[in-house]
Amino acid sequence: MITIKQISPTDTYNLRLEVLKTNKDYIYQYKDDFNIKTIHYGAFLEDVNVGIVTMMKNKNPLLEGKQIQLRGMAVKPKEQSKGVGKELVKKVVDVSVEKDVKILWCNAREHVVDFYKKLGFKIKGKRFYIEHVCYHYLMYKEL
Ligand SMILES: CC(C)(COP(=O)(O)OP(=O)(O)OC[C@H]1O[C@@H](n2cnc3c(N)ncnc32)[C@H](O)[C@@H]1OP(=O)(O)O)[C@@H](O)C(=O)NCCC(=O)NCCS
Repeated sequence: MITIKQISPTDTYNLRLEVLKTNKDYIYQYKDDFNIKTIHYGAFLEDVNVGIVTMMKNKNPLLEGKQIQLRGMAVKPKEQSKGVGKELVKKVVDVSVEKDVKILWCNAREHVVDFYKKLGFKIKGKRFYIEHVCYHYLMYKEL
């Protein structure tokens, strides 16, 4: 069974490095990790942290309305395709709705666009490159 729990900023670092790091210059500590409004969630399978996501209060100039950015979404490779990522996004959606947030957005890595599409996100604008990472699309979900 998958359990989602709030975790500390530093609890996200191992999985960010294991799953998201693209090269030696990848920045795994985000500027607002310790902001009081930032929330980090971990997904646990039998008490082992196998997935992470971070929600940050951050407005994208291309989107309107009260917003939250979803960041640092990662599931351990051997636990992928078991619904862990879906549960993490569901948690962020539920908490965002409670906070009366209208738009959930993320910079989605090109190869996971279909994951977000399945969860109701849409693409906005053109593909863009994030330095030291890869091509991304701005994706958003109306809540
Ligand atoms: C993207 C990621 C978080 C998805 O997590 P996951 O636990 O494997 O996803 P789930 O099992 O919850 O998948 C939910 C649905 O999305 C689909 N899906 C998952 N990853 C997909 C992908 N890369 N492309 C297309 N569909 C995908 C699943 O098949 C599933 O579909 P279903 O509901 O019809 O069965 C995970 O694969 C990951 O950590 N990838 C590497 C890191 C990364 O790129 N993170 C995103 C940064 S923006």
